Amino acid sequence: MPLCDVVAMPSPAALLTGATGFIASHLLPALLATGWDVRACGRRPRPEEFPEQVDYRRVDLTRPEELDGLYDGVTHLFHLAGASSSTANQQEMQLFNVVATRNVLSAAPKDLERALYMSSTSVYGEEVQLPSPVPEDVQPTPSRGYGKAKWESEQEVWAQRDAGMPVVVLRPVSVFGPGNVKLLGSAVLDTAVEAWAGLSTFAVPAEPIEQRLVHIDDLVRATLHLAVHDGAVGSAYNVVAPEYPSSHQVARLLADAFGMRVELDEDPEAGLGYEDRRAAHREMVERGMSPQILLTEQRLRFMRKANRNNRLSVDALLSTGFRFSRGELEPAIRDTIEWYRQQRWVLTR
Ligand SMILES: NC(=O)c1ccc[n+]([C@@H]2O[C@H](COP(=O)([O-])OP(=O)(O)OC[C@H]3O[C@@H](n4cnc5c(N)ncnc54)[C@H](OP(=O)(O)O)[C@@H]3O)[C@@H](O)[C@H]2O)c1
Repeated sequence: MPLCDVVAMPSPAALLTGATGFIASHLLPALLATGWDVRACGRRPRPEEFPEQVDYRRVDLTRPEELDGLYDGVTHLFHLAGASSSTANQQEMQLFNVVATRNVLSAAPKDLERALYMSSTSVYGEEVQLPSPVPEDVQPTPSRGYGKAKWESEQEVWAQRDAGMPVVVLRPVSVFGPGNVKLLGSAVLDTAVEAWAGLSTFAVPAEPIEQRLVHIDDLVRATLHLAVHDGAVGSAYNVVAPEYPSSHQVARLLADAFGMRVELDEDPEAGLGYEDRRAAHREMVERGMSPQILLTEQRLRFMRKANRNNRLSVDALLSTGFRFSRGELEPAIRDTIEWYRQQRWVLTR
């Protein structure tokens, strides 16, 4: 029976917030495929591609009055709604992460079987050296606005745990894969733009920066796994692939895919300037590229972030029996680029 027709349900029923976002675009079909009933919410109008059986509600989670009835029949919360610095300012990050999380948890019924919160490894921060690899039970000291907002949101979750709510927190790193429009996606676009502009070399800052990534399939599998694993309740879980490629390795993969050669450059600002990149991007859109991927003012923005706390422990996740299936990043990144090409989210001449 669909969620919209009943109040109490025998089968697991998910309330999925952030349903119109990237991660949910993979989690939602995975929930449906594994037999969950799903009530999904976002602020946008119902996306056309949502299957009919999804009970979609337009809700602004910063407005408690809009949450009435949202949990009717729900057994599990998957709280993904949030905002990062790619698209939100500090005030918005505070509202859409912290206030939204407070509201959605405050409205939860006492008999909720599990509340999963999609936090982030940005909570650990980069200024204070933590043990390496970073385990989940350290005292984080987030250094940037996004990490601070996610950590403050987690405090809302931990307070509910202390009051008896069965919570689980996931802390993924940068997630990549089909449909991703930021981070690695933007780096792919940067490469495509320079190839389009006729460059044969792809300039990359000479200082290598260690990257940390996770494929969306693994994050979705980890989420589904932790939603039902008996021992998962009450803890946080880092979610990061076991491989840590350098920025040079990633750049070679990207350059290769667009027929360019990597050239290491001492100048961190090397490469095409923003105005030229925008002009090439405009032309690509005129030629039929779908402008889904975020063109960032700073070229290769995502690969520049050196982080002393880069290495993360996944012992907690592995101890629950979870195994990564897309831990080999090179083929996973190649597949993703191919997906962008097929969708015409990037163009080649
Ligand atoms: N993507 C990553 O690499 C990554 C890594 C670590 C952690 N995370 C966390 O994972 C979660 C999902 O990430 P994502 O990449 O899927 O995000 P996304 O694509 O930016 O989507 C954000 C979602 O949150 C919803 N939302 C934001 N503010 C809201 C509000 N006030 N009320 C209701 N809905 C609101 C948006 O709804 P509308 O668009 O309909 O307004 C959208 O569905 C976020 O909490 C993020 O912090 C993401």
